[in-house]
Amino acid sequence: MGSPHEISSASLVSHAEVTANQAIEELHIALGERSYPIRIGSAVLDDPATYNSLSPGRDALVVTNTTVGPIYLQRLVRQLKARYARVHSVELQDGEAHKDWAALQQTLDALLREQCDRKTTLFALGGGVVGDVTGFAAACYMRGVPYVQVPTTLLAQVDSSVGGKTAINHPLGKNMIGAFHQPRLVIADTSVLSTLPQRELVAGLAEVIKYGPIADHEFFRWIEAALPSLLARDDGALTYAIRKSCAIKAAVVAADERESDLRAILNFGHTFGHAIETGLGHGAWLHGEAVGCGMVMAIDLSHRLGLIPPDYAQRVTELIRRAGLPTVAPALGVERYLALMQGDKKAEGGEIRFILIESPGRAVVRTAPRNLVEEVLASHSG
Ligand code: NAD
Ligand code: GLY
Repeated sequence: MGSPHEISSASLVSHAEVTANQAIEELHIALGERSYPIRIGSAVLDDPATYNSLSPGRDALVVTNTTVGPIYLQRLVRQLKARYARVHSVELQDGEAHKDWAALQQTLDALLREQCDRKTTLFALGGGVVGDVTGFAAACYMRGVPYVQVPTTLLAQVDSSVGGKTAINHPLGKNMIGAFHQPRLVIADTSVLSTLPQRELVAGLAEVIKYGPIADHEFFRWIEAALPSLLARDDGALTYAIRKSCAIKAAVVAADERESDLRAILNFGHTFGHAIETGLGHGAWLHGEAVGCGMVMAIDLSHRLGLIPPDYAQRVTELIRRAGLPTVAPALGVERYLALMQGDKKAEGGEIRFILIESPGRAVVRTAPRNLVEEVLASHSG
């Protein structure tokens, strides 16, 4: 076993600046000259003030997909037309299976075809797939142009739109090709969640739940109590969950933008989860579903290592189950899981590194004995 790499995340939340202005809340990601605001609230998308911090330019390119575009594109374009002389759009095919070279190419083709200059701002209107592809295209085009995240899923509002990780998938590995490129602004409009399918809302809850065990036990307790309101899409509960999640993520990213150590805690459940996604083929399970099930496995591994008592592991598992997330992993076989996890980005020299919980609200990044990992895989995969 490698030596444990302990990370304390006890006081993360205090680093994030939170201001409230009636229905609109604003957080700041503190990254020096790459700092940016996250605006959260119902109809924040339609508030002209939301866009005030953006640099001027001639062109805007909205990247969306065939599901989100027909519902929300015109709402965003209306705002952008007041700021940009030319507003272009591109519609990608929907789904995780399309977070690929073809989507990147389609976006870059549009930028080149419209002769967009380096002051062009890209707007990612959609979930995490659109956000990741758009961010990567913005990182690549002319070696880097600005972009704005307009997340329309819960998962994207609480996680993927914040922090500047961008990527596409490769058939052999999830998010294996990408770049760090911070957005200039994140617009998290809670009103767009009204059209989100329930399965997608539940998948987003996985990433909300994640923040409890890794960083904030009080938040975990709040989620336990507020789960029925979250599942019923109560706007107040959702807004609080988004703000709290973004505040935790903001603090982690501000402390470790490029994941030299601390940021890895945001990958709780993802080592097992990414193996599920890649093993089944991207898109078979939703990302949040794979993360939810992966957290069940990671919390069990934490317990088997003697880091946490069984009742806390049970409590985390129970919350994931109550949220409606899967708790039994697909039967890929222990050897296949191990091979997939050795290809994880956190693996070093072929050794798999897991995000484990050493006490409620506190994560640790470490390796684990093979026999314990095998026990977890055997007891959780169907
Ligand atoms: P997604 O982007 O596929 O969106 C889920 C589905 O909901 C899609 O069919 C989409 O078209 C639809 N949809 C989106 N908004 C809608 C709305 N308002 N109304 C109706 N339908 C809507 O999936 P996701 O869960 O948002 O994101 C998952 C992706 O995010 C994965 O690829 C994952 O790797 C990535 N991710 C990235 C980061 C990061 O830091 N960059 C973090 C977490 C996850
Ligand atoms: N979702 C993991 C990260 O942003 O680092």
